[in-house]
Amino acid sequence: MDEIKEIENTGAEEEKPPSTNLHPLRSWKVAVIGNVKGETALPLDCPADAGAEFDKKETIQDIQSAIESDGHTTVFIPADANLPFALAHIRPDICFNIAEGIYGDAREAQIPSVLELLRIPYTASRVLTNAISLDKTMTKRIWRDKGLPTAAFQEFVTGFEPIQNDLAFPMFVKPACEGTGMGMDASSLVYDELSLRTRVKWVIENYRQPALVEEFLPGREFTVAVMGRADATRFSRRPDFYDTDGFHRFPLLEVDSSSSVTPGIYGHVAKTLHTGDLGVPQFICPANVEEPLASNLQDLAISAHNAINALDVSRVDIRLDKNNMPRLMEINTLPGLTRGFSDLCVIAEAENWNYRDIILEILYLGASRFGLVAPNDNSIKGIPVQIPELIQIQRAQKNSR
Ligand SMILES: Nc1ncnc2c1ncn2[C@@H]1O[C@H](COP(=O)(O)OP(=O)(O)OP(=O)(O)O)[C@@H](O)[C@H]1O
Ligand SMILES: [Mg+2]
Repeated sequence: MDEIKEIENTGAEEEKPPSTNLHPLRSWKVAVIGNVKGETALPLDCPADAGAEFDKKETIQDIQSAIESDGHTTVFIPADANLPFALAHIRPDICFNIAEGIYGDAREAQIPSVLELLRIPYTASRVLTNAISLDKTMTKRIWRDKGLPTAAFQEFVTGFEPIQNDLAFPMFVKPACEGTGMGMDASSLVYDELSLRTRVKWVIENYRQPALVEEFLPGREFTVAVMGRADATRFSRRPDFYDTDGFHRFPLLEVDSSSSVTPGIYGHVAKTLHTGDLGVPQFICPANVEEPLASNLQDLAISAHNAINALDVSRVDIRLDKNNMPRLMEINTLPGLTRGFSDLCVIAEAENWNYRDIILEILYLGASRFGLVAPNDNSIKGIPVQIPELIQIQRAQKNSR
């Protein structure tokens, strides 16, 4: 077996007592699982922008510091083929999953499926949801089936399919299963059949996956952070934070790409730029949005999240169509968590959340699904509620010792 690489984090940023009335059963050993830029090996024949979604080492360390500041220990485990061995060796109580995965048609579901197999608790969405959300066409089919608004679309597998009658130019062409704007730039916007077929062919050949073609949405663009669950108030460190449906409505973030490097499109290059860089889009948070549009956008994002059974956290991208009606573009069930940079962090920080709060909220909501925290309303504080899933995990762990 290759040597397993671990980054033990020694630098908890500051000593803080647990800021919660929740009672973890004990301090947990938390494994942060992710793919680090430059460290995760990529296939030789991958597209030029492959790995763009991977995290920087500093993000992993920031997450570890946030978790350690609440009294837990952490270890980083790279999301690669050594993962099962590392898990067997480290035996974490819970995994904080931010892994993008590497191969196959459902790479973002790889780590959750390994963790399900080994019966190890983990944060955020489960296997099926992460597989679906990676595939924008599948996601849109589900949304359409549920009556949620999304632009008319067609998937091209060979590139030679006849164009559906319900689609009108201009259209937008993108890889069906990528993120961070990969495969998206000014040439994604097509006005005629020849340029559509050329771009579709390029996507299929370069990314080795179907091309998703949608009607172009010319209106304002928003990204909406979703956090919560129907029973979030029972388990959150900040129960007052959630509305009666168990979800928090964060301020909206508007992305104004009108004078960006790719005007009108928040594509790959624009997504790599930082505030102050030439050609960076304008990020407005809280966005200036009147009612009822503001509430519509927030409710739509929550419906989109629930439609695919997403759990605890996500980020939903929405654009207005030519009639100024919101249309769902895509959902990120593993939203980026780079401090001060990723949209979710920027949005939460606009509401005076600090980074630690964001990370611990995701951790506690995840842990609560596996009975690792006593609910706020437990009359005997500190006594865990034994849910069947936890009992099974404990049995499985005993058996493997
Ligand atoms: N149908 C469309 N009409 C207009 N613009 C679109 C459309 N689809 C995508 N875009 C533009 O391309 C950008 C990237 O698209 P999308 O959100 O689907 O990709 P992504 O790479 O998964 O994004 P993320 O980085 O959020 O994961 C959008 O933010 C938007 O600016
Ligand atoms: Mg997006």
